[in-house]
Amino acid sequence: MTTTFPTSLIDRFGRKVDYLRISITDRCDFRCVYCMAEEMTFLPRDQILSLEEIYLLAKTFVELGVTKIRITGGEPLVRKGALDLLQNIGALAGLQELVMTTNGSQLLTAAPILKAANVKRINISLDTLDPQKFKAITRTGDLQQVLNGIDAAINVGFDRIKLNAVILKNRNHDEVGDLVQFAIEKEIDISFIEEMPLGIVDKHDRADAYYSSDLIRVDLAKRFTLIQSTQKTGGPSDYYVIPNTKTRVGFISPHSHNFCSTCNRVRLTVEGRLLLCLGNEHSIDLKEIIRAPNVTSDTIKQVIIDSMEIKPEKHEFNVKEQPVILRYMNMTGG
Ligand code: GTP
Ligand code: 5AD
Ligand code: SF4
Repeated sequence: MTTTFPTSLIDRFGRKVDYLRISITDRCDFRCVYCMAEEMTFLPRDQILSLEEIYLLAKTFVELGVTKIRITGGEPLVRKGALDLLQNIGALAGLQELVMTTNGSQLLTAAPILKAANVKRINISLDTLDPQKFKAITRTGDLQQVLNGIDAAINVGFDRIKLNAVILKNRNHDEVGDLVQFAIEKEIDISFIEEMPLGIVDKHDRADAYYSSDLIRVDLAKRFTLIQSTQKTGGPSDYYVIPNTKTRVGFISPHSHNFCSTCNRVRLTVEGRLLLCLGNEHSIDLKEIIRAPNVTSDTIKQVIIDSMEIKPEKHEFNVKEQPVILRYMNMTGG
């Protein structure tokens, strides 16, 4: 007898989950101060999903109604075989949007291959336009390499490109206007992100560094006309448009404007845990399920459907206290 499965995933609050974010590696060539500690130990190979296992799970989610997949890391492009995986996922029938979040360091060579793999949109992290500050924030990154990567992505012609800037008080809060001007000149979007307390980071006090989206908007209003828009990209950004430009300015404000009630996403961590919320630990070990002897695709589907029952209502982030979430951002890709 064949089992009939629903074609959409709905949680107990009635939210439809049609967006899967997959972290394909915890490794990265950068060490951004808000994301990682200076010395990181990365996971051994047998603890992370193989590319075949990631593909199998992506396919299963698409069969259950997921229409958007975002590939993240760490830095996804540092994983060997990432481009082949993207190509295979990009060819899945039923998937409407394959998108990626990257630090931009490898885009000069990877951009044309990503486009050929059916990647529709990419988000590129860029927190500053000052080479010294860039080095200080990323610890190991080279600004020019990322700027070259952004240009390569623009030349390839993705449907849209968005910059992501995590804004930290006294590090880059004075650059929000210049970053928007840069996005306008490049005719791309930009999102400003409030830092989230994931993992224990050293040499950086998260409460002191908090800079709210409202403050950023006030700063930007001195230089640009921002008009609130109802446009959405399926993620948590609230967008504003700047008249006579192609640029949308997004604000991702987990602290000041909680967006959990419209959450449409779950995450597959690099270790194969299905994480039901970025700001909670509720998860299911899908790696264990798919590695069990004689597992069937029906079993995997049922586990995913059942997991919707434990998707939390909202995140538990708090800027003032020590992190309640001890995993680093690179395990989940944000
Ligand atoms: P699109 O809207 O699809 O363009 O993507 P996005 O902005 O959601 O994705 P991206 O990977 O660029 O993430 C930008 C920031 O949003 C990162 O800091 C993520 O951690 C954050 N983010 C994405 N989804 C969530 C979420 O469900 N909860 C929280 N708190 N933050 C999220
Ligand atoms: N808080 C907010 N955003 C973060 N990112 C990484 N760590 C954090 C954090 N602690 C961002 C990166 C990247 C996206 C995937 O998540 O800048 O753009
Ligand atoms: Fe790497 Fe992105 Fe984390 Fe920076 S934020 S260390 S680029 S994974």
